[in-house]
Amino acid sequence: LHIVVLMGGWANEREVSLMSGAGVADALEMNGHRVTQIDMDRDVAAKIAAAKPDVVFNALHGVPGEDGSVQGMLDLMGIAYTHSGLATSVIAIDKQLTKQALTPHGIPMPGGRIVPCEELYERDPLPRPYVLKPVNEGSSVGVAIITEDSNVGNPISRTAKGPWQEFNQLLAEPFIKGRELTTAVIDGASGPRALGVTELIIETGFYDYEHKYTEGRTQHVCPAKVPPEIAALCEEYAIKAHTVLGCHGTSRTDFRWDEELGEEGLFVLETNTQPGMTPLSLVPEQARAADIGYAELVELIVMEAIR
Ligand code: DAL
Ligand code: MG
Repeated sequence: LHIVVLMGGWANEREVSLMSGAGVADALEMNGHRVTQIDMDRDVAAKIAAAKPDVVFNALHGVPGEDGSVQGMLDLMGIAYTHSGLATSVIAIDKQLTKQALTPHGIPMPGGRIVPCEELYERDPLPRPYVLKPVNEGSSVGVAIITEDSNVGNPISRTAKGPWQEFNQLLAEPFIKGRELTTAVIDGASGPRALGVTELIIETGFYDYEHKYTEGRTQHVCPAKVPPEIAALCEEYAIKAHTVLGCHGTSRTDFRWDEELGEEGLFVLETNTQPGMTPLSLVPEQARAADIGYAELVELIVMEAIR
């Protein structure tokens, strides 16, 4: 096949996408495909049209790329592409819309609400500790955990430089203490399949951008050492989220688990429709633990796109 690997772009996760795209392009070439790498710019439609690919491998992360924009463009161009379609992408990129979609299906997620930046200058939007995050970013870009002793000011000071100030829609969620878990799902002929559970263990702070992409900063335990009923629940929720949202190809659902509360302490944070494919990324790692190598994973995702 002739495959365009679409990567880069101008989202905050540009660098992550370039790493994902490079890995994917290598694997596709190894698999015998003809590959054209396109670093997305404003001429992206013309570049893809000129390349005339059989299928586009969407290796973009964040906005634009994971949010339905590129998906809609490719729909109009009549070109097949990997991962989720337009409607799914629009909902899943938005952490608040995702809650509205998933919680009626019995998937437990932390409460929370959209907070105008102005309100943060006046008062805490929730009792501390809470998490402030841009509603539609990935890789923990712009995420802040506001603890009792956060030195961000109380109320948050208008002059303090905070990561939240450059994002127009912020989501405040109660902080869930406990463990960081994740489950990948891949589609196949017999439907979506969960690949297990990985635990991310870090020494201090949280699983932020630096911990995600600096080798050695985070211990990945795969399969996670959690009770079988928690692992089963992660897989159940990940498949349900994948199905309810209408994800395609692959997705990865992230959790927090407060083990003191047992099964009641497991919460879905979000479902990622364009999970990372970098050397430190979690879907390839979990696939490997399930005996699916990187090149095979990439091939499966392409085959789902043209099935
Ligand atoms: N947003 C990053 C790429 C991930 O979910 O893996
Ligand atoms: Mg994410």
